[in-house]
Amino acid sequence: MIKIFDLTDVISIKDFQKKDIQYILKKAENLEKVAKSEEYSDELAGKILGMMFFEPSTRTRLSFETGMKRLGGSCVGFDGSVASSVSKGENLADTSKMFEAYSDALVIRHDLEGVAKFISDIVDVPVINAGDGAGQHPTQTLLDIYTIKRRFDKIKDLNIALVGDLKYGRTVHSLAYALGMFDVQMSFVAPDELKMPKETLHDLEKDNVKFYQTNNLKDVIDDVDVLYVTRIQKERFPDEEEYSKIKGAYLINHHLIKGKDLIVMHPLPRVGEISTDVDNTKYNKYFEQAFYGVPVRMAILKNIIKNKI
Ligand code: NCD
Repeated sequence: MIKIFDLTDVISIKDFQKKDIQYILKKAENLEKVAKSEEYSDELAGKILGMMFFEPSTRTRLSFETGMKRLGGSCVGFDGSVASSVSKGENLADTSKMFEAYSDALVIRHDLEGVAKFISDIVDVPVINAGDGAGQHPTQTLLDIYTIKRRFDKIKDLNIALVGDLKYGRTVHSLAYALGMFDVQMSFVAPDELKMPKETLHDLEKDNVKFYQTNNLKDVIDDVDVLYVTRIQKERFPDEEEYSKIKGAYLINHHLIKGKDLIVMHPLPRVGEISTDVDNTKYNKYFEQAFYGVPVRMAILKNIIKNKI
């Protein structure tokens, strides 16, 4: 295969073209066996991934680490700024420079939008944005799209609803842009206070991407192939009272979807949006989706660290 993916940093899904996304999906498929340890690889042996996680993470951090280790590499870093010299007052630029000295690529999660971009401008190693505030989460989007592709064997002619906190949710910001590159029907289902940001809608319109907006899940539930549910992002609300009014806006339970032909996805963690009675049904794709973080992130790591694919 000719190498077509030439991004060095993974900051925003807007930097990707459709062919880049397709390329990563293809490579991830080839890596599934290594991700499950059914095949052995040491392609990133001797390479070190720097993990700068200023915000909590379970799946993103662990799947990056698992992917790196499955490829023979290793990881250094911190999980929460308390464990690093940031808690002593070190500035972000100095901390990043140290990571640049100690590792071959950096993964960063931070509560401020734009931080990954800022760091990528001051270090010479590749930088991956693992979530910047309410901004973007491009690697999550790649694994989301991969999950859809694995289930339907295509990404076009599908009806996909993004549900929940579309204002502060970074996963849906990235996902909307990516789905906009494919021929799908998109619906945005959110309480009026948490609609998709105007800027994103404007960008989609500029690219002639069609979407439907509603605050009522019932408007879309009978027609969707994918329900992509998200958590109301409590930590991003300026006012906790506002959060209390909106939390619990949507609840997906087995009764609601029984008999319908759809899958339920969620970037996780869920905090009540999906009832556990969906877990043991054919509708549950969210756990499998979390696993796909490993092969998809392996494909990204291989590509940006070694340019090997
Ligand atoms: C998401 C995140 O951190 O943006 N989780 C994830 O990376 N899988 C979603 C969330 O926190 O709600």
